[in-house]
Amino acid sequence: MNIYILGIESSCDDTSAAVLRNTEVLSNVIANQEVHEKYGGVVPELASRAHQQNIIPVVETALQEANISKKDLHIIAFTRGPGLLGSLLVGSSFAKAFALAAGLQLVEVDHMEAHILAHFITTAEHQPVPAFPFLCLTVSGGHTQIVRVDDYFQMEIIGHTIDDAAGEAFDKAAKIMGLPYPGGPLIDKFAAGGQADRFHFAEPKIPDLNYSFSGLKTSILYFIRDQLKTDTDFIERNKADLCASIQQTIVSILMKKLIMASLQTGIRQIAIAGGVSANSGLRKAMAEAAQKYQWEIFIPKPGFSTDNAAMIAITGYFKYLRNEMADQQLKPYTRQSSRNS
Ligand code: KG4
Ligand code: ZN
Repeated sequence: MNIYILGIESSCDDTSAAVLRNTEVLSNVIANQEVHEKYGGVVPELASRAHQQNIIPVVETALQEANISKKDLHIIAFTRGPGLLGSLLVGSSFAKAFALAAGLQLVEVDHMEAHILAHFITTAEHQPVPAFPFLCLTVSGGHTQIVRVDDYFQMEIIGHTIDDAAGEAFDKAAKIMGLPYPGGPLIDKFAAGGQADRFHFAEPKIPDLNYSFSGLKTSILYFIRDQLKTDTDFIERNKADLCASIQQTIVSILMKKLIMASLQTGIRQIAIAGGVSANSGLRKAMAEAAQKYQWEIFIPKPGFSTDNAAMIAITGYFKYLRNEMADQQLKPYTRQSSRNS
């Protein structure tokens, strides 16, 4: 029997709804919130208001594009956390009300697990999926983790950032350069025409499989500030080289620990997930490491790196198969560590 799942994602600044038939995506609609651009970061209160405005049209479009009606759905899956409380409340309240009104099974989803399980979405290209156990470098605006994935819901974080996330490092570096939020994709774009070995920034010396990005941000800030003292046009004239050098440093930091994790665990099925996995420098470095270390690599398909509801729907589908339904009383959680409290 075919199962139709409606996924709802509203953890940060993207409102998204998707429809899946089992593991196959029928639609994946994402409304980005441009309102944050001029503030240099997400403003939580503005994000929840925009989610309220977007959620009904986004769901309607997702159903239309999938060419199905509410009556065809079996499950509604929503992001319970981690994320911004106000944003999560909009998605979770909508999902609970929709489940009651339409008589659907309700399933709660962890956003970080969903980024990883996005690899199991079936698309037209029928790309291969990772085999267990695999390692996943999950790199987003709020998280940087190396996760050992032994089964769909058996995951262990074996490395994590002790301060900023990799996406935050991209966004903060972009902000220093006067670029709008989110700056990660812009750094990626400008880096394409730049020389990555032109400028050198300090890499952290952190033990184990953990990461740190706050020192890099400071190093970029001080360097650019010093250059601007003698050349007010420094950023504009060196934009491509600065972006390429910053990107290379972040990618190098990410890859060193991922390689270490693979060598320590002996696992050579390696995936990347989360917004930063869209980065072309990281994708290239993964391809090089695959050659060098005989890895089989898994890179999210376009549209499934950054926040999207298809990843919520696939996770919801796997939970449904395990008979793990949510009840109407569930509250959102803002941090992964408070998930079970
Ligand atoms: O997973 P995501 O969409 O949202 C969170 O859960 O945080 O990740 C957003 C992050 C932002 O920091 C954004 O700048 C970064 O992913 N990002 C990129 C690229 N595309 C998105 N960073 C570098 N290069 C990209 N192409
Ligand atoms: Zn995310």
